Amino acid sequence: MHLTLRQLELFGTVAHHLSFTRAAEQLHLTQPAVSMQIKQLENSIGLPLFEQLGKKIYLTAAGKEVAHYARNIFQQLGEMEQVLEQLRGIQTGRLDISVATTANYFATRLLAEFNQRHRDITIKLDVTNREGLLRQLEHNEKDLVIMGRPPEQMDLIAEPFMDNPLVIIAAPNHPLVLKERIPLEQLQGEIFVVREQASGTRSAMERFFAARNITLNTGMEMTSNEAIKQAVEAGLGLGIVSIHTVERELHARHLVSLNVEEFPILRHWYVVYRQGKRLSPAAQTFREFILKRTGLSSKLNLGNMAGQCPDENNRHD
Ligand code: PGA
Repeated sequence: MHLTLRQLELFGTVAHHLSFTRAAEQLHLTQPAVSMQIKQLENSIGLPLFEQLGKKIYLTAAGKEVAHYARNIFQQLGEMEQVLEQLRGIQTGRLDISVATTANYFATRLLAEFNQRHRDITIKLDVTNREGLLRQLEHNEKDLVIMGRPPEQMDLIAEPFMDNPLVIIAAPNHPLVLKERIPLEQLQGEIFVVREQASGTRSAMERFFAARNITLNTGMEMTSNEAIKQAVEAGLGLGIVSIHTVERELHARHLVSLNVEEFPILRHWYVVYRQGKRLSPAAQTFREFILKRTGLSSKLNLGNMAGQCPDENNRHD
């Protein structure tokens, strides 16, 4: 089998977009040039990598395998480059990180501060929800990820660095605003505007109430914290969000945090990477910066901790 890295790169781009046209655009090539390279790759492998059903193209079983190995090969090449740079003593580098939608409220501030100190490090930031982050970790696509507690079944290192309390928010004229120590049962009569299923905030909220046998009345589902805040402010219901997302609104009294028993739900933010990953100098510097800057570090080796987490009640969530 004879294949080139260039062919694998072209293939990876087509597989990512599932479109020859978009891959060609991204690579500044013509579409026939991309198709020809893929054809040659298929010939040397001896199996088709894509199949066309209607107007769409899909990866074949062989295509999925090649995509998996191609990703690993490019990840390894990237790591090799970083390690060689380190050996050459080059201090510049790239930091490729991804943060949870909710973490973005403080992550950009942290990155700005980091950038002030390390002008030569180029930063690439991606913002997505918890499921997106887990997928990126699984595919080894990022140097580091900032998220809520990751699942224990994956082989990850997760270091907590900051609290992430979840609060219940209401419009200032909501009748519950004046109440003290609202019992959890009383929330069953309210409507909640919630995040999408793939969100970490949503799953933490569901775990919390399921453990207490309380069923919430969920109304609208939204993929952004901003949309939830607007909806709650407009009186569409109550919301459960990280305190980091509503600091300004609480201060300006556009929203109010309700005094509910057992609230806030106590969660933490973690800096997460795959076990055995060789962090690039830039990633290592950023990791140390976050842990020092926010001063709450204890390394959890999640791969070896399966089943040992003392509680599901969010004390260490
Ligand atoms: P999300 O983030 O709700 O924005 O997905 C937080 C998390 O990982 O817990």
